[in-house]
Amino acid sequence: MPELRENEQKTLLALEKLKGRAPVNQIIQISGLAHAAVMRAVLSLTENKLIVTYEQKQTLVSLSEEGNYHATNGLPERRLLNSLAKLGGEAKVNSVVEEAGLEKKFLSVALGWLNRKGWATIKQGTLKSLKEPSLGEEEKLLQLLTKKSALIVEELSPELQKSFSVLKRRKLVEIEEKTLRELELTDDGWTLVKKGITIQEEISQLTPELIRTGNWRNVKLRRFDVTAPGPVSYPGKIHPVQQIIQQVKEIFLEMGFTEIRGDMVETAFWNFDALFQPQDHPARDMVDTFYLSKPNQGKLPEKAVVDAVAKTHENGWITGSRGWEYFWSPEEAKRLVLRTHTTATTIRYLTEHKEPPVKVFSVDRVYRNEKLDYKHLAEFHQIEGIIMDRKVTLRDLMGTLKEFYQKLGLEKVQFWPSYFPYTEPSLQSTVYVPELKTWVELCGMGIFRPEVLAPLGVKHPVLAWGGGLERLILLKLGIEDIRLLYKNDLGWIRRTPVCQR
Ligand code: PHE
Repeated sequence: MPELRENEQKTLLALEKLKGRAPVNQIIQISGLAHAAVMRAVLSLTENKLIVTYEQKQTLVSLSEEGNYHATNGLPERRLLNSLAKLGGEAKVNSVVEEAGLEKKFLSVALGWLNRKGWATIKQGTLKSLKEPSLGEEEKLLQLLTKKSALIVEELSPELQKSFSVLKRRKLVEIEEKTLRELELTDDGWTLVKKGITIQEEISQLTPELIRTGNWRNVKLRRFDVTAPGPVSYPGKIHPVQQIIQQVKEIFLEMGFTEIRGDMVETAFWNFDALFQPQDHPARDMVDTFYLSKPNQGKLPEKAVVDAVAKTHENGWITGSRGWEYFWSPEEAKRLVLRTHTTATTIRYLTEHKEPPVKVFSVDRVYRNEKLDYKHLAEFHQIEGIIMDRKVTLRDLMGTLKEFYQKLGLEKVQFWPSYFPYTEPSLQSTVYVPELKTWVELCGMGIFRPEVLAPLGVKHPVLAWGGGLERLILLKLGIEDIRLLYKNDLGWIRRTPVCQR
């Protein structure tokens, strides 16, 4: 038999005082120990077969807000019946309702129950009472609940239990499940307490004082079982999405990039036109893009830039391209949108920073008029970056992306030819996710076309890429439904570890 600790001794003594069997809360009262201390003692006492524990489910029932209202004012069917009696047992529904002062929202419920309980009939708008019933079981339970505030369903009489089900269906009560734990001394436990337990105080902290005076030799030091389960604690922590945003930002910074941010509301000019997306491009459609209705227009940049963009769209201007061959409308370009991609932010930045080198990134919010499902949100984040320098090439772009992914723990990367109106060549990158055993698309990229750079007066090649952040987060956290990220599901947030692989 291992030596008992102070809390175990106190628990046993309390149990002896309570005649060998008692619920945990009584043990707490008698012993003066905290709940956690008793539960820890229970663990080792059970292991040493000195006590056994019994668990019993308890359903606590109390009045809901509506239940409380009816408990004071009477059930709506009872109120109608009482008023009907006052009106002589037969009357138009309207006048009964008025007499009872019954709220409109309770009317159909009240009529339903009058009929169901066989208290009255209703024919052509006239109520006729059939009996004058005494207090029903449900009403008794309601009364009981106003007096007691909470009752244990398992302890109610069978009749009251039936009424409880009715009240539950009518949403007049709220329930809470609890587990009641009872402890009982075993024969071994009894033998031990009969022999007598003298409580020996234990020291749980070895102080300098105890050491200096040599007193530690005389006291009993509490032994700690470091393998015993402790209470779970949920300290405050950073939301998983924000953690990964931080990680991505750190990676960019490590790689020598500077962070930029831009406005969520942009003119169509920066979101589309400056990026050589024709004004009838399907992405501009209301179906894909949120347009602002108030205000609905923004400012265009200086005239020279606007004219150059206009000409490039119409006939290619000096870029050697034929353009899109339509009449470009400044009005369309002034429209305000919730930016659909952060390329609007990088292109704006580029216009103001034409001297090489430029190496910037953004991790920011974008908006698309999507139907929400497990794969799509209307508001999400994009990772975006550009590099502008004298002699940068497609190889530099692929190398940079590869390094970026590697730092995120994604080793295998592939590049595929792709298409964007603003880059040429354009690529799509896919990464291999070992856990899923599949390749997943992450970023689109390319080198900005002359049709984009010339009107802005940018003279050097610009490598650009961008992609959704949430998809990356799903991969890293191993979840399938994107909506979970923003549901504020406390359980999920708590379970998600702070340290990702
Ligand atoms: N803007 C593109 C998107 O939203 C990504 C992209 C950025 C592609 C930069 C090429 C260059 O998917």
